Amino acid sequence: MDRDEQYREQLLASIDDETLEWVKDKSIEYIKLMSYYRCAMMEIETKFKVLKEEYSLVHDRNPINSIRTRLKSPKSIKEKMERLGHEISLESIEKKLNDVAGIRIICAFKDDVYTLADALLKQDDVTLIQTKDYIKNPKENGYRSLHMIVSIPIYLAHTKREMKVEVQFRTIAMDSWASMEHQIVYKKDVKLSKEMQMELDECADLSAALDEKMNNLRKSLFEKECIINPK
Ligand code: GTP
Ligand code: MG
Repeated sequence: MDRDEQYREQLLASIDDETLEWVKDKSIEYIKLMSYYRCAMMEIETKFKVLKEEYSLVHDRNPINSIRTRLKSPKSIKEKMERLGHEISLESIEKKLNDVAGIRIICAFKDDVYTLADALLKQDDVTLIQTKDYIKNPKENGYRSLHMIVSIPIYLAHTKREMKVEVQFRTIAMDSWASMEHQIVYKKDVKLSKEMQMELDECADLSAALDEKMNNLRKSLFEKECIINPK
């Protein structure tokens, strides 16, 4: 299935009658706006693919384990706008929502998270709007990831348009924890018992400790390599 078909399937699967009416009402302009977000997402994805290529060529290693992109569904857009109490118009979606386009970069090592984030921010056409470092300051439930909202220009036939993209950086360990927690509780009305919350916290601590150990191991291996092969 190519990417367009994937998006179409995602869109249809996530739509209910009420949302469909809402989208129909906006139709062409809504579809256009979503396609701009997709373009911005592709731009950012390409930037990471380029970095990946450079790393494997120059440093003979790959700091990016995987890249995932997602466009917020019409239903989630509508629900979020309602939840935040904003009027639902295309202008206000663009203004108020930072996460219509999202990209997630999964790294093997914690240091790579910051190296890649810096590499992205150094690029001339990328503007940082907001950073939330849940690695240095984990959320109360133990959630860890580095979140950035950036804006990037997309070039259309006659104009240039700045679009916002949410970029999330995580290690594999952070991602496993978040995926598990997402399936159990995130945004659902599940009330965890104190014991279960403690277990979840414990899992987050264990996964942070694993990241720390792996990161240090890689660092000391890298230092040894530099000693063996001084440049
Ligand atoms: P949203 O309304 O969910 O977008 O949150 P926000 O606007 O307050 O932004 P934040 O940067 O805190 O979170 C954005 C995204 O990070 C979420 O949509 C999730 O993908 C992820 N996230 C944040 N907190 C958690 C969490 O506690 N657990 C999990 N599994 N994911 C989280
Ligand atoms: Mg979100």
